[in-house]
Amino acid sequence: MCSKYSRTFFFLLLTMLVCTIVIFSMAPRITMSFWTSKETNILWRRKETAHLDCGRILANDRSYIEKFIGEHRIPLSSNLESLDMSCYSIQNRIIPFNFHLRPLKIGVVFARVVYKDYEFLEKQVQMSYHPQNIFCFFIDSKSKDDFKWRIRRLGRCLPNVFVIDEELRIDSAGHNMNLAHYKCMEKMVKLPDWDYFILMQNHDVVGKSVYEISRIFEILDGANDIDIDKEFGRIDESLKWDLKTLRLFRDESALNSTYLNSTLRVSKGSVQGSLSRAAVEWMVKTVNPRVYLDQWNEGAYGVDEQWISTFQANDFLGMPGHFSDICLNETGNKTDFITRWSKWSWSDEIARKCGSKFVRHGVCIMGIEELPVIAQMPNIMFNKMLPSFDYAIIDCTAELIYNRTFLGQEDHPLEEEYYANMVNVIYHKHHLEPNYELNCTPGYELWRNRKYPL
Ligand SMILES: *[C@@H]1O[C@H](CO)[C@@H](O)[C@H](O)[C@H]1NC(C)=O
Ligand SMILES: *[C@@H]1O[C@H](CO)[C@@H](O)[C@H](O)[C@H]1NC(C)=O
Ligand SMILES: *[C@@H]1O[C@H](CO)[C@@H](O)[C@H](O)[C@H]1NC(C)=O
Ligand SMILES: *[C@@H]1O[C@H](CO)[C@@H](O)[C@H](O)[C@H]1NC(C)=O
Ligand SMILES: *[C@@H]1O[C@H](CO)[C@@H](O)[C@H](O)[C@H]1NC(C)=O
Repeated sequence: MCSKYSRTFFFLLLTMLVCTIVIFSMAPRITMSFWTSKETNILWRRKETAHLDCGRILANDRSYIEKFIGEHRIPLSSNLESLDMSCYSIQNRIIPFNFHLRPLKIGVVFARVVYKDYEFLEKQVQMSYHPQNIFCFFIDSKSKDDFKWRIRRLGRCLPNVFVIDEELRIDSAGHNMNLAHYKCMEKMVKLPDWDYFILMQNHDVVGKSVYEISRIFEILDGANDIDIDKEFGRIDESLKWDLKTLRLFRDESALNSTYLNSTLRVSKGSVQGSLSRAAVEWMVKTVNPRVYLDQWNEGAYGVDEQWISTFQANDFLGMPGHFSDICLNETGNKTDFITRWSKWSWSDEIARKCGSKFVRHGVCIMGIEELPVIAQMPNIMFNKMLPSFDYAIIDCTAELIYNRTFLGQEDHPLEEEYYANMVNVIYHKHHLEPNYELNCTPGYELWRNRKYPL
């Protein structure tokens, strides 16, 4: 009896030993096939959009598109409880392990002020992921705890994702929005190896690949890309806006009183924009915009739309990569900028103006039928897409970018001439030359005037 038991025990031990050896010898292969398996391919689609043929949508196949619009739109069915938030899984969803990413000439900071939709935001990081790119998140303090936890987790799991510790109360009137971006700037100037800084908001979707973005900024070559439009009378005239009162320059010792007495000419523009690294360094080290931002923060509405625009337009400040307000003065037209695409639409114009026929707070919300628009516009990002309205457009845009990045597909070649001929880009390149004359009329058709909806 006894010997029978010990023999069984011996066999059990032997089996365990053999199994252990087999498992260990296979481990590298198991890991390898896991990294490259279809499931970990970054083109992973959610189950709600898995059946979509984004290629047919890109080809503007109207009869096919009809199936996914109107009451058939596909919203995100958020499934956060089952979303694996281990670093291993987060990295697997974002880092393209099965592809080699070529080095970028220009690394970019994506500085995004966020408050909701973690899954959407993680997807955005995946779409622009590159070891040379950096993601800076600033969280609205009103956000849900679960959202905050997930964003902070993302920051802990990826070396190039930074989440600012501080949180501020940010609202739709724009209070604290600029300050949030400024906090990202302060943190980012300490990091090496990036050249452009993009200011973003929660629901902006990037529509260009990492290589295309790098190329666009290489063409801009130090020029900032910022919206400059007329100020709408939002400015509080009872406050003073001269450089001295604003304590704008950190070191005033080399500046005369006439200069310090000059008043900023305020212009308005989108919160989103792109600043060269030199401009960001200047914003943090040469000037201190805090008093300027605080004065705006006292206002009631749209208080975040006068910062980068005004600094870009007041050429006498000497912000690197600046433009001027001469064109705005002369033509009354806003200066073209390509960082953000958006369409405004009020009341009865909705049906005519928005591709999706859906508008929120006066801004068109993009739907699946707009993939061809995204593919052909020169803009870096698109505002806005809402996962609760239409998630199909978000996943198909991700596939479009994936195909360009990893499969080398060129559905629409980058319009290099567009960027090279923007008035701010030509100005930046030549304005210090002796016989330079500013021409405010671009020699191309503005994206704003292109056919939309398609
Ligand atoms: C992406 O590439 C795949 C493979 O070539 C193709 O089937 C799909 O339609 C493409 N999608 C888009 C949006 O270009
Ligand atoms: C004051 O400084 C400005 C800018 O540097 C310069 O253009 C101007 O000539 C100076 N004025 C006087 C009175 O020194
Ligand atoms: C400063 O500029 C204002 C007009 O903007 C002018 O009235 C005032 O006299 C100037 N003060 C000085 C000290 O130059
Ligand atoms: C633009 O116009 C404003 C007032 O209309 C004027 O103060 C400013 O100097 C002008 N800017 C340029 C660059 O001519
Ligand atoms: C200003 O905009 C109007 C309307 O879009 C256009 O007709 C005009 O040519 C523009 N002027 C310049 C100088 O760009």
